[in-house]
Amino acid sequence: MSEQIKVPKGLTGVVIDSTRISKVVPETNTLVYRGYPVQELCEHCSFEQVAYLMTHQDLPDSNQLKEFIVRERDYRNFSEALQKLIKNLPPNGHPMDALRTCVSYLGMEDERIWDNSHGVNMDKFLRLLAMIPLCIAGYYRHSKQLDFIMPDKSLSISQNFFHMCFGEVPDPEIVKAFDGSLILYAEHSFNASTFAGRVIASTTSDLYSAVTGAIGALKGPLHGGANERVMHMLREIGTVDRAKDWMLNALREKRKIMGFGHRVYRNGDSRVPTMKRYEEKVAKLTGNTHWLEIADVLEQTMIKEKGIYPNLDFPAGPSYYMMGFDIEMFTPIFVMARITGWCAHVMEQTESNKLIRPLSEYVGEKQREVAPRISG
Ligand SMILES: CC(C)(COP(=O)(O)OP(=O)(O)OC[C@H]1O[C@@H](n2cnc3c(N)ncnc32)[C@H](O)[C@@H]1OP(=O)(O)O)[C@@H](O)C(=O)NCCC(=O)NCCS
Repeated sequence: MSEQIKVPKGLTGVVIDSTRISKVVPETNTLVYRGYPVQELCEHCSFEQVAYLMTHQDLPDSNQLKEFIVRERDYRNFSEALQKLIKNLPPNGHPMDALRTCVSYLGMEDERIWDNSHGVNMDKFLRLLAMIPLCIAGYYRHSKQLDFIMPDKSLSISQNFFHMCFGEVPDPEIVKAFDGSLILYAEHSFNASTFAGRVIASTTSDLYSAVTGAIGALKGPLHGGANERVMHMLREIGTVDRAKDWMLNALREKRKIMGFGHRVYRNGDSRVPTMKRYEEKVAKLTGNTHWLEIADVLEQTMIKEKGIYPNLDFPAGPSYYMMGFDIEMFTPIFVMARITGWCAHVMEQTESNKLIRPLSEYVGEKQREVAPRISG
């Protein structure tokens, strides 16, 4: 056996493998997807272009993009079977649990589930890119006891999602803010859910299983679930005059404040300024600056007291709320975006695979004998 290496708890600071997909540079506050800064991608690209970039080596030219979009839209199939499955789910569950179940079901429907070749995995990725928004919107309608709305193949992924949830597509600026948020959420190197997906892929299981596991990891409030907790916090505070005292009290009680802090970034999250601009735009367009005012006080207080900065979930949560989404929809929306990064990582892992299997240090009871059973 090779030499054993002890690493810090939580794998903090440990480089576990190499990747060509994205790079986070905390020192310069940059995040690049395949070499392109995420802020520039938000400015110049659609989510579909970034989805292509994530799973290919480069941005698409116009023909490649056209073909990619046709393939994605062809996969938008809200079948009778899927509708029936959703209708049978408990309507008051969490949509992340519903989504995890739907993705697992989609895997069972796929006859090529065991085929992990690159071409087939690319097909599975396109199918999930297309189907995940349908599952989220379908469960949303079911939970509200509303009729399903069928997908519209003439619309982009973001437009179609609004259409299937609410029956209409909002102002293009709101759609742009939503689309941009998907780009910001698309990928972030070896975060917990991506790592979970790569561990599953490393066993030569299948892409659907990797995504199902990743959804389970993303749900946790220390990871993707934080965007929902941010909005619960803002609602609990309620008014701007209560914000500073609320934060000081929470810090006194040593509570973890959702939407602040990051394992990799220590001086601010590179995605926040762009998302904040979207948030301000949405607040202006919806005539609702209330949440922003509370958020500003929380941010200033946290930075002054602890030197801890907001992460992407802090502006993203309230933005989705102002767009009209229920709080429980926020983390599923994160999945709509992160499916791109997850699938890129599953394919990368598959192409240069080594089973991920660490060791543990046993600190339990010393070896002992089993006493004869007491009869009776
Ligand atoms: C993201 C997170 C899990 C990173 O955690 P980590 O790298 O393990 O860092 P730690 O939890 O050890 O935090 C280091 C220090 O900062 C403090 N800290 C970090 N994030 C904090 C937060 N959100 N609220 C209050 N204190 C925080 C910790 O209490 C700790 O202080 P201490 O050294 O005095 O004990 C953590 O910042 C957190 O729980 N944030 C809230 C959840 C969230 O927004 N998650 C989304 C991440 S994108």
